[in-house]
Amino acid sequence: MKTYLVTGGAGFIGSNFINHLFNTYQSNVQVINLDLLTYAGNPMNLKDLQDNEKYHFIQGDICDTKLVREIFSKYSVDYVVHFAAESHVDRSISDSEIFVKTNVLGTLTLLNAAKKSWETNTGFLDGKRFLYVSTDEVYGALGKDGYFTEETPISPRNPYSASKASADMMVKAFYETHNFPAVITRCSNNYGPHQFPEKLIPLYIYNGTHNKKLPVYGDGLAIRDWLYVMDHCSAIDLVLNKGKLGEVYNVGGHNEKTTLEIAEVIIDVLSKDYNINITKEYIDYVPDRKGHDRRYAIDPIKIKKELNWSPSVNFTEGIKKTIEWYMSHPDYLETIISGDYKKLE
Ligand SMILES: NC(=O)c1ccc[n+]([C@@H]2O[C@H](COP(=O)([O-])OP(=O)(O)OC[C@H]3O[C@@H](n4cnc5c(N)ncnc54)[C@H](O)[C@@H]3O)[C@@H](O)[C@H]2O)c1
Repeated sequence: MKTYLVTGGAGFIGSNFINHLFNTYQSNVQVINLDLLTYAGNPMNLKDLQDNEKYHFIQGDICDTKLVREIFSKYSVDYVVHFAAESHVDRSISDSEIFVKTNVLGTLTLLNAAKKSWETNTGFLDGKRFLYVSTDEVYGALGKDGYFTEETPISPRNPYSASKASADMMVKAFYETHNFPAVITRCSNNYGPHQFPEKLIPLYIYNGTHNKKLPVYGDGLAIRDWLYVMDHCSAIDLVLNKGKLGEVYNVGGHNEKTTLEIAEVIIDVLSKDYNINITKEYIDYVPDRKGHDRRYAIDPIKIKKELNWSPSVNFTEGIKKTIEWYMSHPDYLETIISGDYKKLE
């Protein structure tokens, strides 16, 4: 049985990953979820696991050295999967400090504690792995053509991506300096169930079902590559178990879309499949985000060739599944928008 320390497991991707672990490995896995429950952490995301004796939730800060060390002393952690982060670009533009604290110093705290716990006189204990969930944003922006590969130089352009890139380089530095057993994934924009509604897709679904406008930055033509969250979870699982230590793996969905296309497809599905009275008139062009990167697109050829991974859900199917999930869980967005989810802790 493997013991996983998952950080940020009450957030969007982390909670989907923990569900993936229990669905895949069932009783053959033990998970410790270390999450501070910031505004983005939602205890509702994992309420089905509350009574599972293999699941342990610890509310705490990844920057808390004493707590993190205690976790490594108490549990024989095999894998660290590090999701915890301040993750919203707009917030990083108005207040960058917490991004450096959580994303950079928090990552260093985890690296130090794992190193202390796993290191022996002759190297590191066998089978230990630290996976850092990085982002394609560390590469900066692309023009009309080309793709990010693992060889693309790191060139972050906003405070969020700068903090993620700093942590990404610290993880790499631990591998190079200490031979620390680390791997890094850099993924594109995730979408799917349990996402916080400040992010584009759940925001549009909420607004679209509440007679509100769908805000589109600038001309709406910024391009992102969209990855269904469960495909991302299977990629992380694979990299953790089969990836080469010290390597970076890009994870992308091969689904490049403009913001405008996302707004249009959500309007289309809501009006046709759910009979909601919404048209393209609901699209509201708002002033562009400062320093808005024009295009991100990942070439996931390395993970396909080396680990035989490719996304299984295309965008048409994934967006329908996603809308269906939010429509069948109306309380999810309502309790977050009203702030009531914090009372459920
Ligand atoms: N969502 C995406 O599209 C995307 C894309 C690329 C990379 N990523 C990366 O994936 C990871 C997860 O993203 P997400 O969208 O699930 O984020 P999220 O904002 O939904 O969740 C982050 C979680 O981290 C927790 N957290 C924040 N600060 C903490 C601290 N100091 N100590 C412990 N827990 C803390 C929060 O409570 C929350 O549960 C992040 O590292 C993010 O940078 C996300």
